[in-house]
Amino acid sequence: MLILKRHFKTNIRGHLTVGGADTVELANKFGTPLYVVDEQRVRENYRRFYKAFASRWPSVLVCYALKANSNLAVVKILQGEGAGADVSSEYELRIALEAGIPGNKMVFNGNHKTPRELELAVANDVLVNVDSFQELEAVGKVASRLGKRARIGFRVNPDVRAPTHPYIATGLRESKFGFDVASGQAFDAYKLAARMEDVDVVGIHAHIGSQILDAAPFEEEAEKLMALVAEIKERLDIYLSFVDFGGGIGIPYKPDDRELQPEQVAERMVGVVERVVDEKGLGKPTLVFEPGRYIVGDAGVLLARVGYIKERPGIPTWVAVDAGMNALIRPALYGAYHHIELANKILEKEEVLVNVAGPLCESGDFLGKERKLPKVVQGDLVVIFDVGAYGLAMSSQHTAQPRPAMVLVNEGKAEIIRKRETFEDLTRLDQIPGWLK
Ligand SMILES: Cc1ncc(COP(=O)(O)O)c(C=O)c1O
Repeated sequence: MLILKRHFKTNIRGHLTVGGADTVELANKFGTPLYVVDEQRVRENYRRFYKAFASRWPSVLVCYALKANSNLAVVKILQGEGAGADVSSEYELRIALEAGIPGNKMVFNGNHKTPRELELAVANDVLVNVDSFQELEAVGKVASRLGKRARIGFRVNPDVRAPTHPYIATGLRESKFGFDVASGQAFDAYKLAARMEDVDVVGIHAHIGSQILDAAPFEEEAEKLMALVAEIKERLDIYLSFVDFGGGIGIPYKPDDRELQPEQVAERMVGVVERVVDEKGLGKPTLVFEPGRYIVGDAGVLLARVGYIKERPGIPTWVAVDAGMNALIRPALYGAYHHIELANKILEKEEVLVNVAGPLCESGDFLGKERKLPKVVQGDLVVIFDVGAYGLAMSSQHTAQPRPAMVLVNEGKAEIIRKRETFEDLTRLDQIPGWLK
């Protein structure tokens, strides 16, 4: 079934176009496999997300989650839109700085931050979302060594059950992240931090999971976090001026997935925040959000060339393409669905049932199973949709496959934003020890 989201178009040659560029020409010019990112779509997604919250609340900071796609050009686009950054490693932090995002518009997340990472964060005034008591001690030491005050919040675990894949559900009580709320551990962390000299306790943070297409868990998260904000004010007299709800708004991947509009989420979450702030006489905090997938997911496609076709009586035809689980691991890792079409026959009738396989020596190396496509021949161009988030970012060099290139398209213009890896890139870091020479 041909389902094209509204930002995709077709041209008179029957080809798919992205950002005004003909995908067949892109593949011919830049080679395959090729990631293509639509600049306007990234901008639109960011603006829609920001507006949903900022139209309802006076102070909102949208920190783009770099883990979704940390390409420098992509981050630069978002910096230009005014976004902050959610970073979870030293290099993500450095990429965000390099793109021009100031440290005071960043949050640093993760359950294992090294002293070196903490130093970089504190030196740049990044808000550190502390994940354990030992990390709190480490931040304190770093701040005193640097002679700076560290801005911190705590990642708390609100025990919200979000309907998503277990690997990307992070708000459950048993998850590795955050301080437990139910047992009072989160409250104890604030009590302890309040007595520390070199830290300013300014925030609270949670992230309940990813690819969530229902507003209810976000509302529950807002209830639980705001209850804690009120309790901390009441009992410890600490006012938390940054309330960070993490990311997690999903996108439709399957033709029958329904869309969750940020507007729907914003209405319910901001409703909760407003009520608690009024009831408890709190100041109005800055609401922080860390969307990744929502901003870049549907802005990216992957183009792959059909190499071989294998027909087997009684089962779907195997179509082998030049992009596999090294380029896009989500189908192999989570059984994730990505919609697939033929970019060069986008308007043709779909008549064959196929499995789309990658080139790696792994039977788990497939991109989609039991899909209907037009009649496929060698040299056709397959397009895999919704790969802008967690696509290239999670790619590998498994079976010494170079990572694909990425191009940015806008109003028909196309330019490489990530070069294709070469043999030299793959072997550059390997060394043969003296005794083997
Ligand atoms: C702490 C945190 N924030 C934000 C995100 C981004 O999530 P998403 O891409 O679903 O919006 C993640 C994803 O794992 C995360 O762990």
